[in-house]
Amino acid sequence: MALSRRTTGILGCVVAALLIANVAAEGNAARRILADGMVAPAPAPAITSASGMAAIVDTAHQTGIASADGMASVAATVTKAMAGSVKGPIILMHGAIQGGEVWEFPRLPEAPGGVKGLLEAAGYTVYNPTLPYHFPNDTWNINDGLVTIQQYVDVYKGVINSNDLHNVYLVGHSLAGVWMQQLLQQIGDRLGGLVFVDAVALETGESFFTNGVAGIVPEYSDPPNSAFFTLIYSYPMFYQELSNEVFRDLFINTRKNDAAFVEETYKLLVPEPHGPELQKVNATTFYTIPMPKAFINMNHDITLLDYRTWLLFSDRVSRSNNAGVPYNVYTIYGDHESMLTQQANLATAILEAVAGLQG
Ligand SMILES: *[C@@H]1O[C@H](CO)[C@@H](O)[C@H](O)[C@H]1NC(C)=O
Ligand SMILES: *[C@@H]1O[C@H](CO)[C@@H](O)[C@H](O)[C@H]1NC(C)=O
Repeated sequence: MALSRRTTGILGCVVAALLIANVAAEGNAARRILADGMVAPAPAPAITSASGMAAIVDTAHQTGIASADGMASVAATVTKAMAGSVKGPIILMHGAIQGGEVWEFPRLPEAPGGVKGLLEAAGYTVYNPTLPYHFPNDTWNINDGLVTIQQYVDVYKGVINSNDLHNVYLVGHSLAGVWMQQLLQQIGDRLGGLVFVDAVALETGESFFTNGVAGIVPEYSDPPNSAFFTLIYSYPMFYQELSNEVFRDLFINTRKNDAAFVEETYKLLVPEPHGPELQKVNATTFYTIPMPKAFINMNHDITLLDYRTWLLFSDRVSRSNNAGVPYNVYTIYGDHESMLTQQANLATAILEAVAGLQG
């Protein structure tokens, strides 16, 4: 791996952070926790009236869960709806250097269909599209890095329009926060809520590379200006190999001792086009359009050196117009790639977040 002086310096910080983080318990009980001072969503109100039951069945049809194949599935759906878990469809949005398949990455025995499978088992209709140039073995030419944010946003709008989806819950990981912001601005009337999974929220005039939160190494003012952004593939500019070791130690660190797993997940990575990462956004109306939102923070996510750095993005989201619905942060045991490493924790947090967005 050819390292620039900049990267080498940042890696020094990373190694220091890793040493400090080393005392953190590896293989802790893999269950969701709520951090101190954070508010759990109120339990869904019990539905008892006949009209309430009708509404539940409507919900089941709307989400395509209870089709004509029998009362058993309707009963299951109603049971789940009564528990407050079945809402509109969910679109899982992958982050940089990988595709939608990460949401189906299995973990046996508890998650044979990955996070997506667990959400489906809870009664949701789930989409996990892959953006252009993010499929394994996609081939590239020098102009492909010039794809735009709007081209990505249009992929998700296409999923929503072609399936005639309403009351959609967007669940965006990492870089996908940027696409979620634009989707709210462009197609907000089709959305029911946004869930940021250690995801970015930009302010007007910022790009992903130059945002004020993740510029955690201030002396490097020219992009890329943080450890995370320096270490990823970004094609064709800023091309650097993200080594297996860096991926293991920074991205999938809660399972870094499983060599076969490290090898398998490393193979999923793809180069990231630089165009959308350099593009400055207008995110002004993201902060004013009423829309319930939640944030999931993984407490071993060290891609920004300290997991709490991601909460600085959460602070921004919390200041947006959440339509009067309490803003919750769900903290789980997990790393940046928890859809690969901690499926049950992440799926549980998504289910709770989506339920909480109903207010
Ligand atoms: C990608 O290419 C490799 C090597 O040719 C092959 O083994 C693998 O199956 C391909 N993956 C996909 C998803 O096509
Ligand atoms: C951003 O968009 C808003 C709303 O459309 C507009 O009023 C504002 O002028 C834009 N800001 C910039 C910097 O383009």
